[in-house]
Amino acid sequence: MPSSTDARNANVGLNLAGKTAAVAGGTQGIGAAVGLRFAQAGANVYIIGRNEQLGREVVEKCREQAHDAGDGRTYEFIKADLSSVSEVRRVAEVLKEKSGSKGIDYLVTSQGGPPNGKYIQTSSTPAHDAHFAVQTLSRFGLAYLLASSGILKDTWVSVCAPAGEKGPEPDVDNLELEGAHRDKWMLGRVMGQAKQDSALGDAIAVQFNQHFPSLRAVHLFPGFVYTNALASASIVPRPVLWAYGYVGPLMARFTPMGNLPAWYAEIPVYIGANPSARGKGLEASNERLKPLGWPAWAEGTTGKKVWEKLKAMVEV
Ligand SMILES: NC(=O)c1ccc[n+]([C@@H]2O[C@H](COP(=O)([O-])OP(=O)(O)OC[C@H]3O[C@@H](n4cnc5c(N)ncnc54)[C@H](OP(=O)(O)O)[C@@H]3O)[C@@H](O)[C@H]2O)c1
Repeated sequence: MPSSTDARNANVGLNLAGKTAAVAGGTQGIGAAVGLRFAQAGANVYIIGRNEQLGREVVEKCREQAHDAGDGRTYEFIKADLSSVSEVRRVAEVLKEKSGSKGIDYLVTSQGGPPNGKYIQTSSTPAHDAHFAVQTLSRFGLAYLLASSGILKDTWVSVCAPAGEKGPEPDVDNLELEGAHRDKWMLGRVMGQAKQDSALGDAIAVQFNQHFPSLRAVHLFPGFVYTNALASASIVPRPVLWAYGYVGPLMARFTPMGNLPAWYAEIPVYIGANPSARGKGLEASNERLKPLGWPAWAEGTTGKKVWEKLKAMVEV
């Protein structure tokens, strides 16, 4: 079965000199590793996130490890809290200014984290559910704003959780799952959010392909990648986190769906930017490079409704 090793082999010699990648959620975890892999392949890299220290460290690593560096390549950190629509819009403007007429070739959205079963309103105006705002709205917003303004030139890769051909429809009348937090079962709340994240992610990728036929949307399931995501989500009790610190790295190394961030990063770079990955149906796929397909409803009325609602939220 193919895996990140096959992607790594295919990426040997990949030369992305002259290309530019913007990685949202690039300060740590999967996004940081993907940003670094783009730099190693010779691309310019913009890292976007809230944590300035981590962001600057990733940029510094990009500079150190960049293939054939020292010829005016760009590695920059853009500090932003993407839970706010105005910040999403500002980041799109900053990328437009910085990238100039060459634009951005690859947008990677890896920001956010696992479903947390909470419903907490952001302090920005207008307010949104914080998980929805980062996991869905900011991803849609960056992709939509960069594509509709002609800044995005090639592919948008979103690392989240495609549900595949048979994936269920989202709740279109309640995109943010308002009221779902009253469900007394934590597991039910988390599962509901996970289903909504997957479905909305599929809907916006399929609709993106329809609205911008010269561009490409990719939605990837990373399997299990050992990162700080559980700790960042702050829903897991301390003793479990402590145990996870020991078990997680083993799961990443020795289980079939496990990867360390640097191993997994080969996959988004392969599918997003390696010409040899095109035409293989990998636009919705998993960590085994298995094509999952798109749900049919995402092309029809449901997908269109999701697109229009998110567009209205971003254009407000
Ligand atoms: N790891 C896995 O096994 C796994 C499995 C399935 C799906 N996923 C999905 O893959 C994505 C990446 O996961 P990961 O494991 O790499 O997570 P991670 O290590 O926690 O990284 C998340 C990134 O998102 C950024 N971020 C979070 N909130 C943000 C905000 N409000 N504004 C801007 N940036 C924000 C963080 O940066 P700052 O803190 O600097 O803002 C960080 O760079 C997540 O969406 C996750 O749900 C991961």
